[in-house]
Amino acid sequence: MLTAAVPAVAAQPLSTLEPAGVDAERIAVFFWWMGIGAGIVWLAAMSFVAYCLWLPSRSRQAPSPRRVVVTGGMVLPSVLLAVLVGGIVPHTNDFVDTGAADGALRVRVAGEQWWWRVRYPRPDGGDVELANQLRVPAGRTTHVELSSDNVIHAFWVPSLAGKIDMIPGRTTYLTLEPTRAGTFRGVCAEYCGTSHARMTFDVVVLAPDDFERWLMAEAGPARAPETALGRAGAAAFVDSGCGGCHTVRGTPAAGVIGPDLTHVGARRGDASVLPHANDDLEVWLRQPDLVKPGALMPPFAALGAPRLQALVSYLRELR
Ligand code: CUA
Repeated sequence: MLTAAVPAVAAQPLSTLEPAGVDAERIAVFFWWMGIGAGIVWLAAMSFVAYCLWLPSRSRQAPSPRRVVVTGGMVLPSVLLAVLVGGIVPHTNDFVDTGAADGALRVRVAGEQWWWRVRYPRPDGGDVELANQLRVPAGRTTHVELSSDNVIHAFWVPSLAGKIDMIPGRTTYLTLEPTRAGTFRGVCAEYCGTSHARMTFDVVVLAPDDFERWLMAEAGPARAPETALGRAGAAAFVDSGCGGCHTVRGTPAAGVIGPDLTHVGARRGDASVLPHANDDLEVWLRQPDLVKPGALMPPFAALGAPRLQALVSYLRELR
């Protein structure tokens, strides 16, 4: 079976109950209030059942059907629903993104087949582009603009915020307000095709200074490879036409179909499901279908092992 070779995704909690963002905290509070409310209703119902079952039969007295219907069927549900709806509806507006606030960081994320294109607009009009990873500053608002030019995807980082669909032909928005530094997993939450389940990404929340330093470095061109193997890989990259789909800034490679690889060696994983191991990256280059069935990346098995290893070395050095 093809998918048997897929390496396991590094385990990280994907939890709405470990919030690390303002919206995620609100959602967790809702969950607990709803859970506690449901628990109280359940306990009350069970107590009533116990009361009916074990009460001595001589003290049993059948209530009038009218009382059961009016109290249990009308008054009680009306009060419960009024409390739940009244408590929650006024807060639903808290989750509506009302546009980029002053001082917010803007990031554009596009759903691709099956990866995430991430762009940071720069003051000079250009973009800093990377894939399958967002880095954002802690304690500051990030305004994420979401789009798709293929099918509907959904952007969801449970620890940071709610989820929102990415719909072809329109832009949707989500606000991230991380409260602490860390790496948080994100997933595509709308079935979008064969490798939907492998469409994952990371959000790395950094201290504001670290974030600015990272963005400066990320905006820079790729480093020239330092090892002989890396240089051979750079040559193989050019010869094999990789630049037709991929950009490596600072080199002639300027393709826009696939992910920007300028600093790919500094990302946590490749192709968003691979742990950072050279063997896995070689498998990906040789036969992408083994890792992510249906991906648009063509297989490069024909290059042969030595050139594939050189390519892996080159990609690792693109830090
Ligand atoms: Cu993209 Cu599911």
